Amino acid sequence: MLTFPGDFLWGASTAAHQVEGNNVNSNWWVMEHTPGAAILEPSGDAVDHYHRYREDIGLLAEAGLNSYRFSVEWARIEPERGFVSQASLDHYRRMIDTCLEFGIEPVVTLMHFTVPRWMNETGSWRDPEAPELFARYTEAVLPILTSGVRYVCTINEPNIAAMLAGGEQADNLVANGLPNPDPKVAEALLASHRRARDVLTAVPGLRSGWTIATQDFTPTDEPGATEALREYGYPRDDWYLEQAAGDDFVGVQAYTRTFVGPDGPLPAPADAETTLTGWEYFPRAAADGIHSAWEKSGHTPVMVTENGIATADDARRIDYTDASLRAIHRTIEDGVDVLGYLHWSALDNYEWASGYRPTFGLIAVDRQTFARTPKPSLAWLGSIARRNAI
Ligand code: BGC
Repeated sequence: MLTFPGDFLWGASTAAHQVEGNNVNSNWWVMEHTPGAAILEPSGDAVDHYHRYREDIGLLAEAGLNSYRFSVEWARIEPERGFVSQASLDHYRRMIDTCLEFGIEPVVTLMHFTVPRWMNETGSWRDPEAPELFARYTEAVLPILTSGVRYVCTINEPNIAAMLAGGEQADNLVANGLPNPDPKVAEALLASHRRARDVLTAVPGLRSGWTIATQDFTPTDEPGATEALREYGYPRDDWYLEQAAGDDFVGVQAYTRTFVGPDGPLPAPADAETTLTGWEYFPRAAADGIHSAWEKSGHTPVMVTENGIATADDARRIDYTDASLRAIHRTIEDGVDVLGYLHWSALDNYEWASGYRPTFGLIAVDRQTFARTPKPSLAWLGSIARRNAI
């Protein structure tokens, strides 16, 4: 038996734009409807989580999970610059209350890749006012976070956001499919994160951090690969982990590894098993990410805020997660303070530019009727959560 720490969080994650549907005031909605955009299909109704969150949270709780990470949507809360929608805030507070009613710990993300379209029009994270705007948005959200919420993720994957910034085309959320990061955007995201954390200190006991895509860059054995990796990996990964020093926690979001040769990142090796996103099946990714986050951040507590695979074969999802959890358990034995494991994702959902084809969910959704069908992996993960052990 591999037993996990007493108060370990066992849960699943989603992000507003990927599950809610009709996020019409966001930059992504605009992009999805821009002719020529390299986006397979628009998000549309997504899986109507906006209206069906109660059923979804209920399914997670019924299976045995004890936490749920979701994001509140800036484009709904502040659909016009300076106008804060009380009705949208009330909606998200109802989601928090529903979690609490079901005995689920809510882990709330403030920004998961999308910004309001008005912010996009003034340059998004390149707008010199971005940190101020994000701080004001955090202040607007604060009243719904004052009770029952212990964990807030400020910014989701700022390292990927710095690569996506300003609406460049990206065909896959993995390093070799993304443009180069914009260092100015990286600085703006860091300033925004710090401003948000300052605002959040108003709530006693609330712990905040940002969540990083740990990309497990691995050198090939060609000459020059290790040097190339150092230069390539630092501004895409390590810098963000270093900045988490002194935060209450740092989120690790890990799926695969990326090989880096002397000329840069490479796609998955031809002989590797790959998932529906074309990524190498590599269940050690989360444990590697935990070690790296713990070291680079100078021992900030770590929460696995995303980990999973896109597959139509749910048995393979269980294999992957089982191997991942065993490796995570070893990091705990090594002395890392790991707060929890939140699987990506609760539901099959909108995988950004790749549309609905890559299925990451523990729960399948019929996109015509919106009927939910829990997969065996949900019951499996729930039973581990109940035992708090593998
Ligand atoms: C993101 C999610 C995304 C997942 C799988 C992470 O990069 O936070 O929004 O769906 O990985 O690509």
